[in-house]
Amino acid sequence: MKANILAVDDEKDMTRLLQRTLEPEINCSVSMAFSAKMALSILAQEHFDLVICDIRMPGMDGFELLGHIKTNYPDLTVVMLTAFGNIESAVKAIKKGAYDFISKPFDQDEIIFKIKNALERSLLLKENKRLLKEKETSPSQLIGKSNPMQRVYDQINLVASSDITVLITGESGTGKDLTARSIHALSPRKDKSFIPVNCPTIPENILESELFGYKKGAFTNASRDRDGLFQEADKGTIFLDEIGDIGTSIQTKLLRVLQEKEVKPLGDTKVVKVDVRIIASTNRNLKQKIANHEFREDFFYRLNILPIELPPLRDRITDIPILAEHLVAKHCKKLKKEPKSISRDVMDLLMKHPWPGNVRELENILVQGILYSKENIIQLSDIPLKDVTQKMNGFTRMDSNGVADLPYKEAKEKMLHEFNHDYIGAKLSVCNGNITRAAKQCHMDRQALQQLIKRFNIDPDHFR
Ligand SMILES: Nc1ncnc2c1ncn2[C@@H]1O[C@H](COP(=O)(O)OP(=O)(O)OP(=O)(O)O)[C@@H](O)[C@H]1O
Ligand SMILES: [Mg+2]
Repeated sequence: MKANILAVDDEKDMTRLLQRTLEPEINCSVSMAFSAKMALSILAQEHFDLVICDIRMPGMDGFELLGHIKTNYPDLTVVMLTAFGNIESAVKAIKKGAYDFISKPFDQDEIIFKIKNALERSLLLKENKRLLKEKETSPSQLIGKSNPMQRVYDQINLVASSDITVLITGESGTGKDLTARSIHALSPRKDKSFIPVNCPTIPENILESELFGYKKGAFTNASRDRDGLFQEADKGTIFLDEIGDIGTSIQTKLLRVLQEKEVKPLGDTKVVKVDVRIIASTNRNLKQKIANHEFREDFFYRLNILPIELPPLRDRITDIPILAEHLVAKHCKKLKKEPKSISRDVMDLLMKHPWPGNVRELENILVQGILYSKENIIQLSDIPLKDVTQKMNGFTRMDSNGVADLPYKEAKEKMLHEFNHDYIGAKLSVCNGNITRAAKQCHMDRQALQQLIKRFNIDPDHFR
C-alpha cells in the first residue's frame, strides 16, 4: 500500500523538493501544506502515515504544530526539519515527541533512509493497533440463548478455570474455534498466548517440527535451532484444530506431551518441559476413526476427558434471530456500511433453512445480503438462499418435484441431479466455492468431488 506523507513548510520549493526526492524512491504520495494551520485542516480530512514538518514558520511554528499532532493524532509519526547545525532545536523536537529530525539542506540518501525508518514505525504502530482491536473484539462471544447453547456455556465455565484438556466436537461451522477462544479468554491463562494450529493444512512432516521445534542440523534446511509452537504457547493455550485429521505417528508424539507435559524437539536428545493447556477440536467421528485404526484409542481417551459438543444450528433455530442480527451488525461494521436490518420474510426463511454449514453458512449468506441490499433493510431478493430451500423442500416432497409420473430410471436421474446440486451446492457455498475444502466437508477426496461437479454440471464459480 502507498504511504501517505504530508510535507509542511512555508517555503513551497522545499515541500516540492521533498516530493520529488521521496516519491520516486519510496512507495508514497507526498501532499503539501504551506503553513501549520493548513496542515491541521488537511490532517482533519485525510489519513496520513507520516508528517515532515519545518520548525521555523510564520504564525504557528513547527513545535506548536507538533504539540497539536501529539494531542490529536498520538500515533502519527512526525519528522522535523531543522536548520543545519541547530542541535538545540533538534533536541527540543525529539523531546516534544518527534520521531526523528533531518537537517536542511538534506542529503538525499540520508533523508530516504530516515523516512523509510519512520514509515516502518508507523506501519508497526498501525499493525499493533489492529491486533489489539482484534483481541478486543475477537472472542466476539458466543451468541445464543437456546437450551443446547446454555449447556455449552455451563461446560465452558466448568472447564475454563482449570488446565484440563478439552475436546470440542461439532459439525463444521458450529463455533468450535470461537468456543476454544472463549475458554482461553475465561481462563487464568488469558493474558498469555492462544496459539491455533490448523492441523490438516500443515503437511505431516512439517507439522511435527512446527509443533515441537528442532535443533540445528535436524534436517537439511534446519540451519538454526527453532522453538516449536508448544514452546511458543508456554503458559498459554494451544488449540489443535481439526485433530481428527492427523496421522497416528504424530498422535503418538502428542500423547506423550499430554502425559508428560514435555516435548522433544527434532534432532534433540533432551526433552523440554512445557506448561501448555491443550484444547483440540474435530468435526470427525473419532470413535469411527478408532474402529478404522486411523485414530489411537489411548490418545482419544486422553483428549476426551471433558468433551464439549456443539449443537448444529438446525437444533437451535430459536437462536437464529439474535444470531442473524448479531452477524449483520458485525459485518456491517466490518464492511464499513450503515447498520442494516433483516426483513421479516428473510428472517422466516432463515428459520426454515436446514443450515448444513451451520453458523458459518448463515454468516456467508448474510454477508452477501449486506452487499447486495441497496437500502438499509435486507430483503429476500438480496440473499442467495431462496433456490436452495425451495429445492430442499422439493427434494423431500417428491411429488412437487414432478417425478412421481416419470419412469423409474428418469425419476432417479432427476432426483440424483437435484440432490447433488443441493448437497454439493450447499457445501460449496459454505466453502466459498473452494473444492478442496468442500471435498473435506463431504469426507471424500478432491478428485471424486471434481467428478461429481463435472457429471452434474455444477459451477463452483457460482459460489465464489
Ligand atoms: N454461537 C455463535 N455466536 C456467534 N458467532 C458464531 C457462533 N458460532 C459460530 N459463529 C461464527 O461462525 C463462524 C464459524 O465459526 P467457527 O469458525 O468457530 O466454527 P468451526 O466449528 O470452527 O468451523 P469449521 O469446522 O468450519 O472450522 C465464525 O465466523 C464465528 O464467529
Ligand atoms: Mg474451525
